[in-house]
Amino acid sequence: MINCTMMNKKVSGVFGTIFFAVSGIGLLATTAIAAETAVKTDNKMNTKIDVKIDSRKETALAKAALEMMQASFKTRGQASVDRLQQDETQGLCSQYQDNPPKAVRVRIEAINQKLLKYPADGKLLGSWKEGEKIAQSGVGKQFSDNPETPAGGNCYACHQLTKTELSYGNIGPSLYNFGKVRGYSEAILKYTYGKISNSEAFSACSNMPRFGHGGILTEQQIKHVTALLMDPESPVNK
Ligand code: HEC
Repeated sequence: MINCTMMNKKVSGVFGTIFFAVSGIGLLATTAIAAETAVKTDNKMNTKIDVKIDSRKETALAKAALEMMQASFKTRGQASVDRLQQDETQGLCSQYQDNPPKAVRVRIEAINQKLLKYPADGKLLGSWKEGEKIAQSGVGKQFSDNPETPAGGNCYACHQLTKTELSYGNIGPSLYNFGKVRGYSEAILKYTYGKISNSEAFSACSNMPRFGHGGILTEQQIKHVTALLMDPESPVNK
């Protein structure tokens, strides 16, 4: 069974998952080539244009909503109320209701490109078998979860990955045959690891959790999930 509640955003505080109170649907990177080009262009634009973006506008309504949430939610276990505090990316996505203008989009992606972290040993591939377990698991970060137990990625809640798993969500695109279609190049491998680690670095206000940046998955777990998508032997690519 896949636990979709974990990924409910914005309204999920009751379940202690405000962690995912992030953003909205970002640009669909339909091909990795397109995704890479977009990043390059954006970076270039970011250096050329001095984008001035107001810090989050504290409208009366936004302020009242935040106060209401702060008053309603209580810290329970690892689900602490400080999850209501948004970082700059989340603040901007909320401000523009997940549909920011181009300049803001470029800024959000640039902020998160800077935050991207790759493994020090340079190895991006783990074991696809471990990756499949992580993709299946929706455990983690809720008040009822044991904080000592490693969290899952719950990828199936939003993506199709294999032909054998019939239960999956479709908030995100199907990732079936991901590596086979994209090719197993270094560039795609790097994109895939980076995307799982911090989705906002590639599509601003994405609905996809920032697994590495948010401390949901460890570096080793991200390597495993990357292998699930990029190992030719993985059922994703069969
Ligand atoms: C809450 C829903 C959600 C979850 C959970 C989720 N994703 Fe996503 N994912 C998305 C959405 C929406 C997109 C498309 C928008 C974007 O690119 O950010 C996406 C895009 C992607 C892409 C880019 C696809 C492309 O065509 O370039 C990859 C790779 C990916 N997800 C992998 C994963 C993996 C691996 C996991 C589990 C560790 C995962 N996702 C969990 C929602 C999700």
